[in-house]
Amino acid sequence: MKVRAAVLRQMGAAAPYSNSRPLSIETVTLDPPGPTDILVRIRAAGLCHSDLSVIDGSRPRVMPMVMGHEGAGEVLECGADVKDFRPGDQVVLSFVPSCGHCTPCASGRPALCEPGAKSNAAGTLLAGTTLWHLPDGGSVYHHLGVSAFAEMAVVSARSAVKVDASLRPEIAALFGCAVMTGVGAAVNTAQIRPGESVAVFGLGGVGLAALLGAKASGANPLIAVDVIPSKLDAARELGATCAINARDNDVVAAIKDMTGGGVQHALETVGSESVLAQAYSATRRGGTTVTAGLPHPQRMFSVPAVSLVAEERTVKGSYMGSAVPSRDIPRYIDLYRAGHLPVDRLLTHRLKLKDINEAFDRLAKGGAIRQIIEFD
Ligand SMILES: NC(=O)c1ccc[n+]([C@@H]2O[C@H](COP(=O)([O-])OP(=O)(O)OC[C@H]3O[C@@H](n4cnc5c(N)ncnc54)[C@H](O)[C@@H]3O)[C@@H](O)[C@H]2O)c1
Ligand SMILES: [Zn+2]
Ligand SMILES: [Zn+2]
Repeated sequence: MKVRAAVLRQMGAAAPYSNSRPLSIETVTLDPPGPTDILVRIRAAGLCHSDLSVIDGSRPRVMPMVMGHEGAGEVLECGADVKDFRPGDQVVLSFVPSCGHCTPCASGRPALCEPGAKSNAAGTLLAGTTLWHLPDGGSVYHHLGVSAFAEMAVVSARSAVKVDASLRPEIAALFGCAVMTGVGAAVNTAQIRPGESVAVFGLGGVGLAALLGAKASGANPLIAVDVIPSKLDAARELGATCAINARDNDVVAAIKDMTGGGVQHALETVGSESVLAQAYSATRRGGTTVTAGLPHPQRMFSVPAVSLVAEERTVKGSYMGSAVPSRDIPRYIDLYRAGHLPVDRLLTHRLKLKDINEAFDRLAKGGAIRQIIEFD
């Protein structure tokens, strides 16, 4: 089948992307689903900083690749061995397929699925296949088993979660990365309890979703940190009790001052080891620092070793919100519908696939929270 898709052929293009156009909208061939795969008509796909990090080379991937890993759509066709889906189902795509059998999967931690991590690194589907092809026959890789910047995608059934068909696709898509990652960092990884103090560093789609998760968990005070005034305004509107511009303030001193020694939980959602160091310093004795940001693989993070012991501090990584997607996506959707997680407020821009390079300029400059590509 011929499909229009946003293909990244090479990483490291110079910004602005409106000039260098790293993503080309091309007609590529998509093979039919294998026995354990489903064919999905993508209806909405969101732009995440992790896509930008592949484009700018700070998160290297195999090339060329059909990008995009936050999406929702309609199932059109199911492979012979697929039991859980039917044509017509609405699905949210999850960016780590879970095999269901490896040690992390069997331990209730499918975000760490080992075959899933392997196929994601190889740019294939969970079955090990590569179904995208260029007109000259060359292979194009799958981004995190999803490749949502395309009119159609084939994904493993283990990358999809069925959701209510009445949920608007542009909202459903947000749950695939920003919400699952951000809310999950607060509720699954940090396990915030009512009345605990929290600071969120970085207020993009992931950070503001983390803020919403912290709010829903009863965090108080709830401190938001960014370097862009419009992000701080958004955080205040979404329930931050205080918003601090890290450019104009000594943010660690300010947080320690207002909390009498630091917060119980600091969540880092920037992707910067220096912001992670600030988050660590802003926690109180016995506090937990959760990081969901993804810096370049060569970046290092160091702490005074004794502080882990003498101050009983914890540092935790949070991948895909430590999620069990089939449990958490429906649960977060229910919380959204009940008014406890107003994640629709993260959606700031809607666009067409052809405008994707301009949209990545906007994301890089901090001019958007979540931008959604809508497909007709
Ligand atoms: N752990 C995961 O599973 C997972 C999933 C999705 C995204 N991510 C990563 O999370 C990070 C955030 O993603 P996003 O899509 O929300 O990005 P984003 O670009 O929308 O948001 C990042 C925010 O950080 C702010 N920021 C930049 N420098 C700062 C500083 N010095 N102090 C405070 N704030 C600062 C920016 O202004 C922006 O608002 C990225 O590193 C991304 O790769 C991780
Ligand atoms: Zn993402
Ligand atoms: Zn597994």
